[in-house]
Amino acid sequence: MKYYILFGPPGAGKGTQAAAMVEKYNLHHISTGELLRKEIAAGSELGLKAKSLIDAGALVPDEVVEGMIESEFRTVKGVSGFLLDGFPRTTAQAEALGKILGKTGESVTSVVSIMIPDDMIRERIRHRASIEGRADDAREETINNRIKTYHDKTEPLVEFYKAEGRYREVDGTGTIEQVRQAIFDLMDRL
Ligand code: AP5
Ligand code: MG
Repeated sequence: MKYYILFGPPGAGKGTQAAAMVEKYNLHHISTGELLRKEIAAGSELGLKAKSLIDAGALVPDEVVEGMIESEFRTVKGVSGFLLDGFPRTTAQAEALGKILGKTGESVTSVVSIMIPDDMIRERIRHRASIEGRADDAREETINNRIKTYHDKTEPLVEFYKAEGRYREVDGTGTIEQVRQAIFDLMDRL
């Protein structure tokens, strides 16, 4: 099994590019953000707990998302691998992922990182707010907190995976098609 991490700040285009990647490489897409939004929509206990954190632009507890990921790995069959979008987001989550995969003698195949600057994050999220109506896209304060949370807690993973020799980056500032092509070129070389 291949285990790709699709990395990048909020609004970088992870969800957008994941759709094309799963089709081309026969992967199962796991977006922890989408899984959490489903829990919120279903009104589950987990969803209720997650909602206030997500609306504040904070992270939900590591154990919550780690459990979600492990259960997807166990239940999804018939694919060449998994595409993790929005996970891991903390060093503790990256270490937990290593342990989960280690149980079956596996490891992260590669990190594909889509990079854009902070002003473009704001632009993209503002644009999406008018289309998708995501609760965490609605308020400026939430968006600022998401950006801060990314820099404080998630960006250190760049060095974490560089040290493991698994980090690859594409320029996310081009058009959707340009970024997709850059990702395909990178994946084909892996
Ligand atoms: P999550 O859903 O993962 O949100 P995110 O990381 O903030 O990323 P986004 O989904 O906002 O951006 P994206 O990169 O997918 O961009 P998209 O393709 O949509 O997480 C939400 C929350 O859940 C977190 O804040 C946290 O609270 C919680 N959570 C999730 N995972 C967690 C974890 N592991 N641990 C703890 N908590 C967790 O693109 C954005 C917009 O730009 C779209 O409108 C798109 O059409 C457009 N666009 C995309 N690419 C381009 C391009 N090249 N040019 C122009 N426009 C583009
Ligand atoms: Mg997304």
